[in-house]
Amino acid sequence: MIDYTELMAFMEGSKLSPWLKELQSQIDKGLDEKRFGDLPAWKASLEALPAVTSSEVDLQTQVKIGASADTSEGVKKQIKEALQGLIPWRKGPYTVHDTHIDTEWRSDWKWDRVLPHLAPLKDRLILDVGCGNGYHCWRMLGEGASRVIGIDPSPRFVVQFYCLKHFTGPRPIDVLPVGIEGVPANLQAFDTVFSMGVLYHRRSPMDHLR
Ligand SMILES: C[S@@+](CC[C@H](N)C(=O)[O-])C[C@H]1O[C@@H](n2cnc3c(N)ncnc32)[C@H](O)[C@@H]1O
Repeated sequence: MIDYTELMAFMEGSKLSPWLKELQSQIDKGLDEKRFGDLPAWKASLEALPAVTSSEVDLQTQVKIGASADTSEGVKKQIKEALQGLIPWRKGPYTVHDTHIDTEWRSDWKWDRVLPHLAPLKDRLILDVGCGNGYHCWRMLGEGASRVIGIDPSPRFVVQFYCLKHFTGPRPIDVLPVGIEGVPANLQAFDTVFSMGVLYHRRSPMDHLR
């Protein structure tokens, strides 16, 4: 389920509160089934995921959710089929209850290159601009971030992210169906902002940086 209630409650009492004025309408637009005709099918895949408790979640060395013994072969098959409904999976890889999602890109290799150059992320509030399905958001949480908010205007990626979150249980991590244009100017709310793989797609890279 895609549910921003907990995130919005957090924003209410933080420097992010000015964003709340427009956030709900941005979410409604970003997940508008009239704009995105395939969205109901993707949401059906998310809703088809069985309820399973994940006894292990590794976000530090990889993104691996669930241990083999957590569930039956039949339920694992159900999970695999639901996740296949969201192909293509561009960023990853992920392992979810023995389903290995061998994604188009090795985002883990990118993270391994980036991480040594970062100031510690522990206890930081992080924005990841153009986060795709949120692979690096998970790894930022694995580094001890207090909360991670990813934004990406592609609703398929947002649904993919919530498929993974379905299995981790509540965590301070969300992906919003919003582009950089939707983030209010001068928020000054985040401790760290990432923008990876987006700048060179922008008509005006300088405006993106600002
Ligand atoms: C090359 S991918 C990079 C994904 C990820 N950050 C990474 O490093 O692997 C670029 C992403 O930017 C997203 N994007 C496109 N326009 C955007 C915008 N206006 N604001 C934020 N993200 C955008 C795309 O949907 C896509 O997921």
